[in-house]
Formats: sequence, structure tokens, C-alpha cells
Amino acid sequence: MRKKIVAGNWKMNMNLDEGLKFAETINTYFKTKASVAEVILCTPFIHLAGVSTIVSKGKVICGAQNCASEPSGAFTGEVSPSMIKSTGAQYVIIGHSERRTYYNEDDKLLNKKTLLALASGLKVIFCCGEVKQERESGTHFKVVKKQLEEGLFNLPSEDFKKIAIAYEPVWAIGTGLTATPEQAQEMHKYIRDLVNEKYGNDCAMNLTILYGGSCKPTNAAEIFSKPDVDGGLIGGASLKKEDFVAIVEAI
Ligand code: PGA
Repeated sequence: MRKKIVAGNWKMNMNLDEGLKFAETINTYFKTKASVAEVILCTPFIHLAGVSTIVSKGKVICGAQNCASEPSGAFTGEVSPSMIKSTGAQYVIIGHSERRTYYNEDDKLLNKKTLLALASGLKVIFCCGEVKQERESGTHFKVVKKQLEEGLFNLPSEDFKKIAIAYEPVWAIGTGLTATPEQAQEMHKYIRDLVNEKYGNDCAMNLTILYGGSCKPTNAAEIFSKPDVDGGLIGGASLKKEDFVAIVEAI
């Protein structure tokens, strides 16, 4: 059975003290609870080392939200995948729509980051998804296909196994609008079929595909009940213990 994941994406929230306390709360909760899903906290860089220490004896895993596209050197303000790895973090989110939109990260750059992150021993949650206008004009499949082909499909299949894909329709992120479970299922199935064509049935069947975009305790169970939805990438609702825990338990 393929791996289920619920990953919290804290985005640019919580100072150091708040973040460490929150990670402690989440870790304590899941220490004593059986969960079918891998629970990941994707924190700002400043929290990584502290959160990794806190979760090291629990079942929660730490991840970053971005990484540099270069391994080291004169790149002021950047944090390399190997630096992330050295904190104890295991995952990195690459290609989030906020990075694509606000920082002009294109498919070529995201592919470079992905290759470097994998070479540095991190696992990657690779985000894709269409904007509202693309959904309305019916080009959403084409858009997602291009993001995956250019961002991921030059990976050797051994490396592809270290990828989870997050389908996040941009019009649903932080807006309160959620894709219907049917819309999520339709796109997730489409993604799995593309991976099947490129990497074969085994890879496709073992690929974890997360849904992201206004996922909440009230809609998580229905979205997660779809056969090609293997968990979620959770923004706003990952900042409240009760909501995040309820979403993990919805799986
Ligand atoms: P949201 O964000 O849950 O707040 O919509 C999801 C994400 O951006 O990963």
C-alpha cells in the first residue's frame, strides 16, 4: 500500500519560540497515537534544527518549504539542500505556487532544485496546480502536465520514488474555495496516469499524491476518501493543533 502523508506548511508564520512550542505539542500528541499517515511539519528555515530535535524521538518528521538551486557558495540569503539535511530535516517542498508566483520560480529552476535536493538526500514534495483562469478556460490538465514534465520527468526512476506530488489548485490556496472531491480525484488520477506512462505501473501505484488548498477538518475526510488522494498539504489549518490533528485523523 502506498504511503499516506499529511504535511503542514507553516509558510511564514510563528517566531522561533512559538514554532518550537507548537512542534512540541504536535509531537507529544502523535507520540501516543497510531496514525496511518506520515505527519510532516514544513517549517521556516529558522525552526528546522530545533523542530528536528523535538521530533527525533517521535513519529513526526521535519521538512523545509524551499531550498537553493546551488549547492554552496556566494548566494547571499540562500539555504542549500545539504544545509537543510544537516538540521535533521528529511523533506523539502519545491514548486509551491507562492514561490512560482512571488519569486518567479519557473519549471527549469524547480527542476534544478529538485535534482539537487534529491542528490543531497532529501525527499521532495513537488507542487503543481493551475490558476483560476486556467481552470475556467479548461487548460488545467495541460498546465499540470507541463509542470510535471518540465519539473520532474527527467528524473531517473530510482529518484522519482523519493517524490511526493502535491496537487494544489492555486484558486483554492488560502481562499476558502476547495476543489470538490471529484475535481481532486480527477486531477490526481490524471497525474497518476501521466506517471504510469512515463515511469510504469509500479512507480505510479506507489506515488503519494497529496491534495492542497483550503483543506480543513470539515472537508478532509471526503477528499481523502477518493482513491487517488493519498493525503494533504495543509496551510492555514496546520497552524492550529485541533485542526491539524483532525485532518491527520480524517485519513
Ligand atoms: P491552505 O494552503 O491550506 O491555507 O489553502 C495550502 C498550501 O498552500 O500548501
